[in-house]
Amino acid sequence: MDSVAASRHAAPPAVLENYERLLEIVEQQSHVTLVAEDEDTQVGFLLMLDQLPDEVTGQDQGFVAYMAVEPAYRSRGVGAALLDAAENEARRRGLPYMALMVTEENAPARALYERAGYTTERRLLCKTL
Ligand SMILES: CC(C)(COP(=O)(O)OP(=O)(O)OC[C@H]1O[C@@H](n2cnc3c(N)ncnc32)[C@H](O)[C@@H]1OP(=O)(O)O)[C@@H](O)C(=O)NCCC(=O)NCCS
Repeated sequence: MDSVAASRHAAPPAVLENYERLLEIVEQQSHVTLVAEDEDTQVGFLLMLDQLPDEVTGQDQGFVAYMAVEPAYRSRGVGAALLDAAENEARRRGLPYMALMVTEENAPARALYERAGYTTERRLLCKTL
């Protein structure tokens, strides 16, 4: 639900269903899964598509399809470490860019991405009808 804009009146079951659909779509494509662990506990993950060219320029890029950190482990740098590892993996594969989408109200995610050097390239506009 952290990724749902206030303007979308979405119920948690529908969001969960679409999250599961996103995972299925990612699994059908070339991707990298990174898992952050604290000893034996999985505390976060990042899914990166590595063959999703930018739809405007056609240039190769990595694309963060989703990432999340367990609430109890947030604000300890786990998200930053996952993103850094994904960027290193993308560089290793010769990908010149990394892209992702983030909801405007998702302050923790935006702070993380901005601190990592991401800038806004396009905007997704929405109007309630
Ligand atoms: C976004 C997310 C992955 C960040 O993970 P994390 O491990 O907490 O990330 P980091 O610790 O590296 O950095 C988080 C930074 O967000 C900022 N932050 C945390 N909570 C915040 C809040 N409520 N408001 C504004 N900024 C906030 C802080 O700057 C924090 O760094 P700091 O505590 O060191 O100052 C995590 O919040 C999460 O799983 N959110 C739910 C899923 C999600 O939104 N995924 C992203 C989809 S695009």
